[in-house]
Amino acid sequence: MLQISTPVTPRCWGIVPAAGVGKRMAADRPKQYLPLLGKTVIEHTLERLLAAGVWAGIVVAVSPEDPYWPDLPIAGHPLIHTAPGGKERADSVFNALEYLQNQAHDEDWALVHDAARPCITASDVQRMITRLQHEPVGGILALPVHDTLKRVSGDAITATIDRSTIWRALTPQMFRLGALREALREAAANGSLVTDEASALELKGLQPKIVEGRPDNLKITRPEDLALAAFYLEQP
Ligand code: CTP
Ligand code: MG
Repeated sequence: MLQISTPVTPRCWGIVPAAGVGKRMAADRPKQYLPLLGKTVIEHTLERLLAAGVWAGIVVAVSPEDPYWPDLPIAGHPLIHTAPGGKERADSVFNALEYLQNQAHDEDWALVHDAARPCITASDVQRMITRLQHEPVGGILALPVHDTLKRVSGDAITATIDRSTIWRALTPQMFRLGALREALREAAANGSLVTDEASALELKGLQPKIVEGRPDNLKITRPEDLALAAFYLEQP
């Protein structure tokens, strides 16, 4: 019998690395479990991602010894899966992609979003998907830099950098699931430092796009960031 294969529409998978220890936050627990307006940081992050309504599923990478995650009701949400975190952020992302190997298609999209960015908006997620869905490689949310940038040596300025070509990388970062997994595999095998997903693809000579994000999509890093995140989350 003649088999006609219809092209499958790529699905979107959320990948949420949440296996960090929050060294710079220096709290009594990893920052993704700190309280913020009556919930934990990661609950805000996941609820806001889920609100985008675009997901085949969301994989959260947590440390196998993490005592906090299994106690959160959202860990049992039907769209949320749990994978083991790794030593570095890139290892956590890679493990989450491996977890999906049997249920996701290589052409599906993976949107990687830090657990520590609870102010993500559903509209930013939807907007980046609309903007990037026909791109072969994918891209990231990013922000132009407004401050004047200085190169320094010790405590002395040696140059002023042209900021017109400099952007700050945010998350989500959206790539084809198979290509991202292989780029991360190669970067790990070569011992290359990758602090975000885009850099793994850049190492292969690819040029991810940027989509302008929102300044309130901050990454909670230091104690003072919690109050700012609370302020942003309370905005209508
Ligand atoms: N992350 C992860 N696995 C790691 C390290 C980090 O999943 N081995 C996650 C963090 O949980 C966080 C995101 O990656 O959601 C961004 O990392 P970062 O802000 O650096 O968080 P931490 O590594 O926890 O913080 P610090 O660097 O201050 O220790
Ligand atoms: Mg870190």
